[in-house]
Amino acid sequence: MAKMKIAILTGGGDAPGLNAVIYSLTRSCLRNLDCELIGYKFGYRGLYFNDHVPLDEKATSGILHRGGTILCSSNKDNLFSYSLEEDGKMVKKDVSDVAIENMKKEGVDVLVVLGGDGTLTSARDFARRGVNVIGVPKTIDNDLMSTEQTFGFDSAVNIVTENLGRLHTTTESHHRVMVVEVMGRSAGWIALQSGIAGSADVILIPEIPYDLKKVVEKIKERDSREKFFTIIVVTEGAREKGGSAIVGKVVEDSPDPIRFGGIAAKIAIDLEKHVSHEVRSCALGHIQRGGDTSAFDRVLSVRYGVAAYELIAEGKFGNMVCLKDGKMNYVSLEDVIGGGSKLVDPNGELVRVAKNLGIVFGD
Ligand code: F6P
Repeated sequence: MAKMKIAILTGGGDAPGLNAVIYSLTRSCLRNLDCELIGYKFGYRGLYFNDHVPLDEKATSGILHRGGTILCSSNKDNLFSYSLEEDGKMVKKDVSDVAIENMKKEGVDVLVVLGGDGTLTSARDFARRGVNVIGVPKTIDNDLMSTEQTFGFDSAVNIVTENLGRLHTTTESHHRVMVVEVMGRSAGWIALQSGIAGSADVILIPEIPYDLKKVVEKIKERDSREKFFTIIVVTEGAREKGGSAIVGKVVEDSPDPIRFGGIAAKIAIDLEKHVSHEVRSCALGHIQRGGDTSAFDRVLSVRYGVAAYELIAEGKFGNMVCLKDGKMNYVSLEDVIGGGSKLVDPNGELVRVAKNLGIVFGD
């Protein structure tokens, strides 16, 4: 009998832990199944152009700890609505047939897709078209409903926390206010967890629209206690009460075309009108996705990889592996998509904890 052929692709923005999943999935499949593996390059684009590389022990050696993805990624290239030039004009077309044909020619039996919302939506659509798909949940934003934690999130929180420590010393030295913008789109998880861990004074998240007056009050209250500096962490998608989030850029062809950006700079300008301190802003940007994967994410990712292998071994296709009650589990791709994003509960435990520490949310 022919060997089973398993293909892996990584789609969407990269996140620390992708390589650890590739590592554990490749190794557990090679150890336990009569199979060979390939990796499509640049996410779904690789499926369209049939661009792939072999994945074996050698190709995956030494990658477990490394951020990024050896398969490269793309957060464009939705093959169900793909931008193509036809007769000198750009048109959108469903080219999923080309991808399915390519997989058939290549003899691919199973496609494992590592990605967030957008990437997993296409994974579901390929499953609907009869492809044996397994999903693995990735995003530093931690905003996927169907799993308790995505890999990449813990690494991002650690990076932000470390940088808040660095910003503390310079901010305190100049008696300034520092507004630090972090990723997360419309979910405040990174700001909330790193803000608590990094001793922020103010945390502004999309789930709790802020009133600038409350932030000013906090700065003045700190001044009155001779704490002449203030650290504010803000999620890129946060907004003032009655206002809207700041769109930095629109990326055509991306399943999530809106890129937020600029809220920290705006808050800094707004605040300087009301406080005696100099106010600076700092957007941490893609630093949050770079470098090595945290120990927690390495372990979580290898668990996800082995759980994906187990689904393949049991022939349970059309599912995404997930973390449920702290244990590996799986959920139908049909149920992963469409349920909205997992957002911070403004009345939840973590917000209450932060408020009890004196952290202000601007509400
Ligand atoms: O979803 C992950 C994420 O890092 C978001 O937090 C951020 O808004 C976005 O991706 C940035 O995307 P890009 O890498 O395209 O700039």
